[in-house]
Amino acid sequence: MNVRNLLQNLKIETRAYINGEFVESSSGAKIKKFSSIGGEPLPEITACNENDVNLAVTAAKNAFKDWAALTPLDRKNILLKLADLMEENRQELALLDTYETGRAYKNYFYDSIPKSIEAIRYFAESVDKYYDKAIPARGSEFGVIVRVPLGVVGAITPWNDPLVVSAWKFAPALLMGNTVVIKPAEQSSLSLLKVAALSKIAGIPAGVFNVVPGYGEIAGKALALHNDVRGIFFTGSSEIGKQIMIYAGQSNMKKVALECGGKGPYIVTKNCGDISESAKVLAENMFYNQGQICSAPSRVIVDESKLNEFVECLKIECEKFVPGDSFDDENNVGCVVSDEQFKKVQNYIEIAKNEGAEVYQAKTKKPHSEKARCIQPTIIINPALDSKVTTEEIFGPVVVILPVKSTAEALEVANNSKYGLAGAVFTDNIDEAYSVAKNLEVGLVHINSYGNDDNSAPFGGVKESGLGKDKSTYAFDEYSDLKTIWLHSRK
Ligand code: NAI
Ligand code: MG
Repeated sequence: MNVRNLLQNLKIETRAYINGEFVESSSGAKIKKFSSIGGEPLPEITACNENDVNLAVTAAKNAFKDWAALTPLDRKNILLKLADLMEENRQELALLDTYETGRAYKNYFYDSIPKSIEAIRYFAESVDKYYDKAIPARGSEFGVIVRVPLGVVGAITPWNDPLVVSAWKFAPALLMGNTVVIKPAEQSSLSLLKVAALSKIAGIPAGVFNVVPGYGEIAGKALALHNDVRGIFFTGSSEIGKQIMIYAGQSNMKKVALECGGKGPYIVTKNCGDISESAKVLAENMFYNQGQICSAPSRVIVDESKLNEFVECLKIECEKFVPGDSFDDENNVGCVVSDEQFKKVQNYIEIAKNEGAEVYQAKTKKPHSEKARCIQPTIIINPALDSKVTTEEIFGPVVVILPVKSTAEALEVANNSKYGLAGAVFTDNIDEAYSVAKNLEVGLVHINSYGNDDNSAPFGGVKESGLGKDKSTYAFDEYSDLKTIWLHSRK
């Protein structure tokens, strides 16, 4: 079934959510853009400016004391209610995200939206089981270390998984007692505005949760530079991640955490016994959402003795990820997010061809629309190690395959990257698996799998993939400060 017609029944909210109300920007400015599925204009969304961001931060600042005074149990119950409301509205959230980003509806409905709901539940269920610590007692001295909220927290999110990444940030932030202002990506704001409406029904008080859609260099910058914002939590490109650190330094030295993508090394050694499985897992984790995934295993480093078999298996797997109409609810893979991203990815494919690398693309299905911005799964075999296609994050359905002569060389190639988010090793040798896992410079390593981890696994990289962790109870540390209270007893 094609679910596009269900959009007609929706009343789509396009205004900012500030202090518990939906409002236009004081400037009247709008984000104007076109669908990557069919080329038609998309709903125009309020583009917040510095004044609007100031209003949201002031509202958040005023709401902080009362919100922070609630018990963790109170906040947990409110967030669980929000998760339930999101579940009731799952179809609408999936439709809105599909409409704006072109990712397949099927993928949002069955995977991404449920993941965002599960993330909220995970954090909510964890927060009231989280203990503070006491310093070992000695004589008349007694000390406790408690976590205190930061205050007003800012979050800046990307378009590739809008609600999952937002939930990873706003849920632990709110549960720790912070108030939040989120600037969603200009490509994907509608679903978060719907969540804002649901947050009011769930009982989140005015000012505690604010959404300021708008352009990064205007609304995002104003948020990151704001002197009343005590922490800024960002997912996006390394380039802007670095800029966020500068903004923090230029303003109030606010706490910063960054998740900035990667070029995931996926090592297949000569001891990998099931090459066809390793190719299948690669395709599943590389080609959904048109490869627009920060942790995508986009750099396969394969022992040369296994190269041909791996490539032949991967070519077969690619056929399962041929893009089509994003609103067709049978279809796994939709379009890339925008014309801009489409051109960027195509440019990388051209670079590989011009440099003489072997480029394979899955067979093309006739596009559902002349204006659809879809890219076939693409394999680049043996590009130069210093080629842009080998070193840069392409953020499309494009994987590079780098043959090596040994596992030691595989590790060297893998770590020769400015990125370090996630990686994998496929081998039947336990010593080799452990050694590679230990030595890979990434935040998360999978052995003989990829992407099977859940909310209990901390997520965040090293090097230019960022700093700090999303997911797991470690995320609570990001959204709080440690405070020591020391008591000297006079008795
Ligand atoms: P981006 O890093 O520019 O945007 C991410 C977020 O930052 C958006 O909300 C945007 O509005 C905001 N932003 C942009 N400029 C800002 C500024 N000066 N101050 C404050 N906030 C700002 O990413 P973009 O341009 O959407 O994509 C470019 C490339 O970045 C992609 O091709 C991909 O390689 C990478 N990327 C990585 C992501 C990841 O998951 N780590 C997510 C999105 C993009
Ligand atoms: Mg950008």
